[in-house]
Amino acid sequence: MRRTNGRLKIAIQKSGRLTDDALGLLRGCGLEFDIGRNSLHAPCGNFPLDILALRDDDIPEYVMDGVAELGIVGRNIVVEKGATVETLAELGFGACRLMICVPVRSNIRAAGDLAGRRIATTYPTILADYLRREKIDCEIVPLSGAVELAPMLDVADAICDLVSTGSTARINGLRPLETVLDSSAVLVAGPAAMAEPRKRKLIDRLLIRIQAGLIARGKRYVMLNAPATAVPQLQRIVPGLASPTIVPLADDGMVALHSVVPQDVFWDTMEQLRDAGARDIIVMPIGAIIR
Ligand code: PRP
Ligand code: ZN
Repeated sequence: MRRTNGRLKIAIQKSGRLTDDALGLLRGCGLEFDIGRNSLHAPCGNFPLDILALRDDDIPEYVMDGVAELGIVGRNIVVEKGATVETLAELGFGACRLMICVPVRSNIRAAGDLAGRRIATTYPTILADYLRREKIDCEIVPLSGAVELAPMLDVADAICDLVSTGSTARINGLRPLETVLDSSAVLVAGPAAMAEPRKRKLIDRLLIRIQAGLIARGKRYVMLNAPATAVPQLQRIVPGLASPTIVPLADDGMVALHSVVPQDVFWDTMEQLRDAGARDIIVMPIGAIIR
């Protein structure tokens, strides 16, 4: 049994693609903490939660073993490590693809051309599964980092690594060939923590906050004034206005209409709303929607 002080620990990537979004997500939940570039541990002042900054590759195992109860990590690493953890939420950031890439001038043009070649990767398990599925017979060269250099050093003919913006591949003279796995950031929890009632209660409290932020993402609160007779037309223009709050105004025949609408839908339809008689349109960001 691990020693516990009644606080949860959440593991996040120390420095990398997911770090800023992970910290932003936690701050968006109203958590207060002070974490420097080089600090590995930051307690939250207003919630029983400690943040641990770790190598992302270690996070699934640490969560599985209960070193941290929760983790924010790419699904790619969870799959690669085969970790027995529970995915509590898809976090909507860190989208990337695990891809086979080849040197720009390589004569490998399609997955079939990989037969008999060497592929360097830090994802040997996922890659082996893919090659087995696709019936491609080639050698996997497992590395622990700097995979992009492998073709230049003639350690491999291709690499299998994460591509997000694609700039790392481009800078290293590589072009993407095939997608092996689509991935993005997930919130995971360890089985022991989920089974322990006191910890589970804290996890649920945090999860409600995280989900409230995720639901609110991409949504706006809209308030507008319009003639009462225009309301049905406004509702046709913005489908999200299906069940708005409608308040009569002192002005005869005018109403104030309040609703939550998807941000993209709103900007596409703003002119139509004005043409239909909407005035004094106010659009506000939403921090959280608690269901
Ligand atoms: C991945 C990958 C590349 C980079 C690709 O690293 O290893 O280095 O992202 O991103 P790009 O297409 O936007 O250039 P990650 O942040 O997962 O950290 P790692 O060092 O742990 O692999
Ligand atoms: Zn890593």
